[in-house]
Amino acid sequence: MTADLVVVGSGFFGLTVAERAARELGLKVTVIDRRHHIGGNAYSETEAQTGIEVHRYGAHLFHTSNKKVWDYVNQFTTFTDYVHRVYGVHKGEVFPLPINLGTINQFFRANYTPAEARALIAEQAGELAGTDPENLNDKGIQLIGRPLYEAFIKHYTGKQWQTDPKDLPAGIISRLPVRYTYDNRYFNDTYEGLPTDGYTAWIERMADHPNIDVQLNTDFFDEAQPISKGSVVGNVPVVYTGPVDRYFDYAEGDLSWRTIDFEEEVLDTGDFQGTSVVNYNDADVPFTRIIEPRHFHPERGYQTEKTVIMREFSRFAEKGDEPYYPVNTEADRAKLLAYRDLATSEKDVLFGGRLGTYKYLDMHMAIGSALSMYENRIKPHFTGGAKLE
Ligand code: FDA
Repeated sequence: MTADLVVVGSGFFGLTVAERAARELGLKVTVIDRRHHIGGNAYSETEAQTGIEVHRYGAHLFHTSNKKVWDYVNQFTTFTDYVHRVYGVHKGEVFPLPINLGTINQFFRANYTPAEARALIAEQAGELAGTDPENLNDKGIQLIGRPLYEAFIKHYTGKQWQTDPKDLPAGIISRLPVRYTYDNRYFNDTYEGLPTDGYTAWIERMADHPNIDVQLNTDFFDEAQPISKGSVVGNVPVVYTGPVDRYFDYAEGDLSWRTIDFEEEVLDTGDFQGTSVVNYNDADVPFTRIIEPRHFHPERGYQTEKTVIMREFSRFAEKGDEPYYPVNTEADRAKLLAYRDLATSEKDVLFGGRLGTYKYLDMHMAIGSALSMYENRIKPHFTGGAKLE
């Protein structure tokens, strides 16, 4: 098939563009991915010993308040009524998170009203009032006071960044949410749920169109492959969702990322922790959290002999690691600006998705921005209205 459009990367960004272009415009779209599967980081598969669906690249919870995105994704999957909640272990005790009135009252062994709790936190945050926080530690204390900050934020953040928060810039956090109600729903969005028959089934339905040709195990930079940068750019419009620095051969330097190592274990128990996500907020536990995927789908009636868990260890990514979260230092931002200039002058190549823009994007954001790129830049190009660029 000779393609009208080549999409590099079969994550939610790439597949949304491909689906729209094929279905609405009837274009022939070739999607390539260097991995052996489609779906990018949202890919999930069945763990062989337990039959439980595991999210291969970390827990993925779908949530959005964007009606357009919600209507779009509902064409490909229904959603369960799963509501995400997170708990955290501090000094051997389990607390509800994000910090809410339940957390505060349990932590201070109290029965505060919302107003009393608010006054207490304001008083504790007053310790560094009026000062300009020099680092993340001071900023955290200024936002929620020392006791809660040190119990729930300090060591967890330190583990995420492998760095003492005293050595992290204050700008990493702008706010720390504290709820003065007992609401411990993790997300505040209008719509929330998990794809009823799993992420991979959803993703496969997006790619299931006669005009979409998916080629896996195909790296855009491997010139030995039939579809590669050298053979495609300048001949066919391209939507590129791989790392922007890689596209330009790291000419402006490497952008830095954090990654996660997952330690997966099958256990001979039907239920390890009674919920899907438990954070470990203290420094003496090396991992940040434990995911138990069976709890994402209580409606499925998984077998009760065994369960599977994943411990997560956060660290800075080296070349060859999966890039997960942009570190976004000042140096990174300067490099990104230089890459953006290069990207703008790359004719008929559009950069999108989390790797192509060096931005952490939730799934609904990746899908939303792909829909905008399609409407504003791709569709006009193929219907005589110019754009792309
Ligand atoms: P994505 O990374 O999914 O896809 C890019 C694709 O490009 C990959 O398949 C890659 O192999 C391919 N590629 C790269 N270079 C290539 C090359 N040279 N040649 C060919 N192919 C190439 N969101 C959310 O809403 N709720 C959640 O709970 C979570 N949880 C979460 C946990 C963790 C640990 C991470 C890292 C991320 C999340 N997310 C999330 C975010 C979610 O994963 C994200 O929104 C989507 O992956 C974005 O889709 P993209 O298509 O932009 O990138």
